[in-house]
Amino acid sequence: MSEFTINFEPLGLRGKCKNNESLLECARRSGVGINSICGGTGACHACRVQVLSGTVSRPSTVEYKVFTSKELKEGWRLACQTYPISDCKITVPADSMTTSQRLQVEGLEKKVSPELPFQVYHVKIAPPSLETPVADADRLIQALNNQHRLRCTSVDIDTLRDIPGQLRSWNWESQVVVRNKEVVTILYQKSRQLGLAIDLGTTKIAAYLIDMNSGQTLAARGIMNPQINYGEDIISRINKVIKSSEAAVVMQRLTLDAINELSADLCAAAGARPEEILETVVVGNTAMHHLFLRLPVKQLAFSPFVPAVSLALEVRARDLGLNIAPGAYVYLMPNIAGFVGADHVSMLLATDAWKAKETTIALDIGTNTEVSLIYGGKITTTSCASGPAFEGGHIKHGMRAAAGAIERLRIDGDKVQYQTINGGPPVGICGSGILDALAQLYQANIIDNSGRIIDSHPRVRVHKGQREFVLVSEEERNGKPAITITQHDVRELQLAKAAIRTGIQILLDISLCSEDDIKQVIIAGAFGSYINIDSAVAIGMMPSLPLNRFQQVGNAAGMGARLALISTRSRAKAQAIASRVKYVELASSPEFNKVFVQANYLGPYQITNK
Ligand code: FES
Repeated sequence: MSEFTINFEPLGLRGKCKNNESLLECARRSGVGINSICGGTGACHACRVQVLSGTVSRPSTVEYKVFTSKELKEGWRLACQTYPISDCKITVPADSMTTSQRLQVEGLEKKVSPELPFQVYHVKIAPPSLETPVADADRLIQALNNQHRLRCTSVDIDTLRDIPGQLRSWNWESQVVVRNKEVVTILYQKSRQLGLAIDLGTTKIAAYLIDMNSGQTLAARGIMNPQINYGEDIISRINKVIKSSEAAVVMQRLTLDAINELSADLCAAAGARPEEILETVVVGNTAMHHLFLRLPVKQLAFSPFVPAVSLALEVRARDLGLNIAPGAYVYLMPNIAGFVGADHVSMLLATDAWKAKETTIALDIGTNTEVSLIYGGKITTTSCASGPAFEGGHIKHGMRAAAGAIERLRIDGDKVQYQTINGGPPVGICGSGILDALAQLYQANIIDNSGRIIDSHPRVRVHKGQREFVLVSEEERNGKPAITITQHDVRELQLAKAAIRTGIQILLDISLCSEDDIKQVIIAGAFGSYINIDSAVAIGMMPSLPLNRFQQVGNAAGMGARLALISTRSRAKAQAIASRVKYVELASSPEFNKVFVQANYLGPYQITNK
């Protein structure tokens, strides 16, 4: 009997689909919650999914009625009516999902006094007359300059189109928004002055709606980055663009649509309108930055991996397709290198790590982990290809942080105690749980320091030719497949932790520092916020330091974006940080291979790189 592997995105869960089994049945067995109000008869249409790759059965009569031919061509199907006939990759859209993902928008909170990139002036003008038949925009600029002693010289073209109608309906009174001597928009007197800060991650997008005058966050929301359908990591997406320029257009469109949707949702939550958003800041890694602007990305994939641009940029929002105030701008923070982008600058800015007086390691763990060492007033930065293991990728029962994911666990004799997100029955294991599992297996001597699973524990078994440790057995799951950590999973995790460990060690070596010199370790990012530091130290991923030297700061890149949104001084600091960083390409270090091999071993820091 044939069996196919089905990859369910954006959860990152994989399931085995038997012959004659529908996608819905496979999803259920694999712990993927797809809505199925009618129980799979094809009546409710709640189980819509999109087949991204692979071959499936032909559409049923019901599906021909539910979807347009364009939608069918795009792969839209009802999960209960669709039967895989090869390995497939499926997207389950948010409204078809019974569980939602943990999408981090929380983190460090910091205040700065607003120093806005624009000024807003109240202007009242006289209506035109036969005696003074002066053009509307000319009268507005004259009044603005006279009433506020300015030398404003131009008006944004879209704003210009709106001026005659708006002035008349607002009784010749308005708020005029001026940016670099240009009128970028005019607002009704009672309009709010808002801004939008975006942390554009490879996996997730976090958005914050900010009151520009107080700096207060009015609403925040996170969603999955829809580009994920074009590859989980940066390299896959770059490769897609290298193969087809059309992919660059589609990926940019997907991101812009997602941001427009987010800004509309945030405005609805705050009782505001997207036209009241007068400025946007976007931070992301270099590839996300380039894909957002549709800049070439091919050079990022080849040595010496240089960005198209590193300087901070200001781009008219409508030139990108963002639906905010007519002449508003998007500010993009500077990048550092091909694989260290504005999000890392933003994190260094928000945490003040860049000006730390004591030796500091600041890192953001993801599929690509950026690490900075701040020592003696210098900032040395590198990036490590830590891969998707800590986001659940390439791990047999790995999944992203969503309901039912084991997020913490402890091995106690022959028992495994665990905690799941939302407290429901376990369906897989997410990054923080995976890290705990590795540490617990090592500390209980179930795996040795080379990562080999030793088969003397009652929960260790050989399944389909592979040794594995059973976290939750079939019996404990009432007949559903067991959740296990396999020998292959352990190897994947060792590679991920070794990449991060190597990055830290090489920065220390270059700066002639030792692990004992590190006075603080700042860990940012979604995964980093939830990990158990004890576990990270136990396996040697983090330096073996007292726990009070570690700080988990949540989404610091998002905080940096909010600072830059309301403060031109923070923007200047961001540019200064990017210029000060000395970037180190890990692979070019002569010690890289030696350090990486040693870093694969489990256990507290034990590298002897002398
Ligand atoms: S479950 Fe109702 S249509 Fe598929």
